[in-house]
Amino acid sequence: MNAKIVLLPGDGIGPEIVTQARRVLEAIAKKHGHTFEFSEQHIGGIAIDETGNPLPDATLQACKNADAVLLGAVGGPKWDDPNAKVRPEQGLLAIRKALGLFANIRPLTIHPDLADASPLKMERLTGVDLIVVRELTGGIYFGQPRTRDTKDGHERAIDTMEYSRPEVDRIVRLACKIAMGRSKKVTSVDKANVLESSRLWRTVANEVAVDFPEVTMEHQLVDSCAMRLISHAATFDVIVTGNMFGDILTDEASVLSGSLGLLPSASLSEGTLGLYEPIHGSAPDIAGKGIANPLGTILSAAMLLRHSLNLENEAKAIEAAVFSAVAEGSRTGDLGGTLGTQEMADAVLNKLS
Ligand code: IPM
Ligand code: MG
Repeated sequence: MNAKIVLLPGDGIGPEIVTQARRVLEAIAKKHGHTFEFSEQHIGGIAIDETGNPLPDATLQACKNADAVLLGAVGGPKWDDPNAKVRPEQGLLAIRKALGLFANIRPLTIHPDLADASPLKMERLTGVDLIVVRELTGGIYFGQPRTRDTKDGHERAIDTMEYSRPEVDRIVRLACKIAMGRSKKVTSVDKANVLESSRLWRTVANEVAVDFPEVTMEHQLVDSCAMRLISHAATFDVIVTGNMFGDILTDEASVLSGSLGLLPSASLSEGTLGLYEPIHGSAPDIAGKGIANPLGTILSAAMLLRHSLNLENEAKAIEAAVFSAVAEGSRTGDLGGTLGTQEMADAVLNKLS
């Protein structure tokens, strides 16, 4: 197969980890007789520095013409001034919206050899295998109005949590489809005891569930879900939730796996174009040191092969290589090891079949 892949290294550790994921993609292409054409584009802080725009037109056009996009991370202290007119994160939000990436899939499994890297006791981790399906182009991240003004002589700021019926329908439907290939259980997470948008969410989730008679749909409030993720995570299978709740819960869930640096994600559209990125951020404190964990990005590249290029065997080969590298004891610093970013990728490449 010939595929066009756009790389968006971004800021902080982004360039280091994307470089390693590209090596893994090149190796798998060679082994399986595919041709991947890579093009590198700017997004985030580096794009602001180069063009003034966190999502330059050239980047968006390249992504629209590609089969898939692999992103590192955006943001950093250099662009963090709360009064700044443009912010790196706007580039990420804009590309999600512009490419129609409404579904962010964040799987979480525990590598048995890494359980000791998690601050949680082993018994809390046994049997954890879940997927968070996070709505990505709606909710409080995009709702209007969104302003700063003055009321009663005080400066104030407004964000709006907004969900429409079709937005909830399509994300819950996708979660149900994913659940049909797993244990047929969906937990829909909201704050329906307080928020109107959550009450609509819950109503629509129940209606969608009617179309999936084999799926058990349960509802849980986001605060108690946060607790259950730490105390009984193994009781979850597919979690579906809105944009901000999903953002928060997935960082929390990553602690179970031992490191935020391990977790991949796929942002999917109605078509095959998808954007793939590790769930962690740009980690400015360790950027440029060559010590960042590349596994979240390498596993995101595996998701890219699976979801956008339909190369399931190649995706599994990468996942298996990561699994055996870790089983053999290869670890970056976040997992208590001493390997650098490139050495960790070398360990994966050595296992790749
Ligand atoms: C994520 C990140 C982003 C988000 C930020 C960088 C805008 O935290 O992908 O989880 O909040 O969606
Ligand atoms: Mg986040």
